[in-house]
Amino acid sequence: MTRTPLVAGNWKMNGRLDMVEALGASLGGLRNSRAEVAVCPPFPYLAALASALGGSGVQIGAQNVSSHEDGAFTGEVSAEMLADMGCRYVIVGHSERRALYGEDDELVGEKFLRAQQGGLIPILCVGETLREREAGETEQVVVRQVSSVLDVAGIGAFDQAVVAYEPVWAIGTGETATPEQAQEVHARLRSALAAEDASVASRIRLLYGGSVKSDNAALLFAQPDIDGGLIGGASLSADEFSAICLAA
Ligand code: G3P
Repeated sequence: MTRTPLVAGNWKMNGRLDMVEALGASLGGLRNSRAEVAVCPPFPYLAALASALGGSGVQIGAQNVSSHEDGAFTGEVSAEMLADMGCRYVIVGHSERRALYGEDDELVGEKFLRAQQGGLIPILCVGETLREREAGETEQVVVRQVSSVLDVAGIGAFDQAVVAYEPVWAIGTGETATPEQAQEVHARLRSALAAEDASVASRIRLLYGGSVKSDNAALLFAQPDIDGGLIGGASLSADEFSAICLAA
């Protein structure tokens, strides 16, 4: 099964308008990339980035979405509003939102559903902590995180979704999972989805995230069940991010 790779940049709470414009100008070179490319800036820069990327083929995405539809939810941003801004993707369940903002599996499932109802493709993040890995609980954790969304959304919903495996211990640490470590978890995730629907499982893109850099991307992306990456720090450098996209 041929899956078009996806490389998405997660800027987290970084960036200023001048960087948006500089990155937008430089990413035009990504037309030569085999991968689909997306950039997920902080909310305030979505319009400027959409404008800077216009016509480049590079997609934009958001880093979070409300689990609610429009209404009296101060500070929230709905899926429909993000779609209005030109977003194609939205990250849901990132480990930083799970750890810092109390997002549990149930809320992540609600956000996953809301994203799709509002016309977005959710990038569902799963991953274990170092303690969980050292306890041999990695597969149990990531399968639980996917299963909790399967329970509310159903396997059909995963035909319009992406899953990103981001070992928490690799995020922002420089301690990248080895290609073998990442492939093992990706294969387990794909088999868990295949148990529900083999066709959906063969089509879904599984991204790896956690200290992906231009010097390790190619080996990671060469793994049979790794279909691209979710890139944090390296996505803030146009050159580094472009090199990672071209490695996919
Ligand atoms: O969502 C991607 C992010 O968590 C990975 O961060 O800086 O390790 O590439 P980084």
